[in-house]
Amino acid sequence: MNKKRFILFLKNTHYSNILEKKHILRKKTTSIIKEFDQVKYKNLIKNSKKLKLKKDIFNYDKIFFNKDLLQILYKNKIKNISLKNYLALNFKILKEYIHKYKKNGENFIEVGCGYGSNLVRFSKDKKISFKKFIGIDLSLTGLKIINKINSKIITVAGDFYKLQRLNFPIKQSLIISNCFMMYKSHNLNSIKKFLLLQPEYIIILEPIYEFNLKKTFYHSLVRKYFKINDYSKNIFKTLKKAERKKLIKIIKIKKNLFSHNPLLPLSLIVIKRFK
Ligand SMILES: C[S@@+](CC[C@H](N)C(=O)[O-])C[C@H]1O[C@@H](n2cnc3c(N)ncnc32)[C@H](O)[C@@H]1O
Repeated sequence: MNKKRFILFLKNTHYSNILEKKHILRKKTTSIIKEFDQVKYKNLIKNSKKLKLKKDIFNYDKIFFNKDLLQILYKNKIKNISLKNYLALNFKILKEYIHKYKKNGENFIEVGCGYGSNLVRFSKDKKISFKKFIGIDLSLTGLKIINKINSKIITVAGDFYKLQRLNFPIKQSLIISNCFMMYKSHNLNSIKKFLLLQPEYIIILEPIYEFNLKKTFYHSLVRKYFKINDYSKNIFKTLKKAERKKLIKIIKIKKNLFSHNPLLPLSLIVIKRFK
């Protein structure tokens, strides 16, 4: 995208301070808990009580995003889109691949499921029939919201990367990771944690630093944004390493599909467990 147009666009968003910012915000587990559990999801619960919400996840999304209209980057263009359509787009992309790779899946697991914006939707979708829906997150508050909306979803609280095993048997799962892996610098051990959950497939929709290495103005800002916010810069590199070690196989890549935050374009990667 043209540099002038992009700067103009940024100036209308709250991401414009990236142009001056230098200080790096380190992402430690404690700061992640603070950001989500103690601030974002606590506010969500508080505001949802005031509004006497029904058990509808979109009502929670509306409070969480706090706006009806978004400007997103889609196919390299700035696009005005309603919150409803933006969430539908995210859902559609995940759903397409969940359908394709469901195979014998018994368990649908979302790691870093937050307050369940994806998980609750998938658990209610008639065309996606898994025996169990499981959500794992650091935030007890996020999981509390999920259980309030759908008590059948199994929630597991804690640091995913410290998980030893689940306290119930698990086989043939399909895992999704949407804006979760971005909070950690990865290594083979973090990838092996996913394999503990017996996935046949893992569907990743995350910002991938290594897909933004071009020497353009836009990509240099994206890289700066990753660095300043201490987001993962090695998801793809670590997945490739795990592939060389024959732990997984990368079977699909779609680079920089769309982004709600213009500086964090989301890419899709589908992984198959190596048999
Ligand atoms: C940006 S939110 C994404 C939520 C959800 N996947 C979605 O797309 O709506 C990131 C979530 O990852 C969780 N998270 C980050 N690091 C985690 C970890 N090590 N273990 C478990 N959850 C984690 C946070 O608590 C937060 O709820």
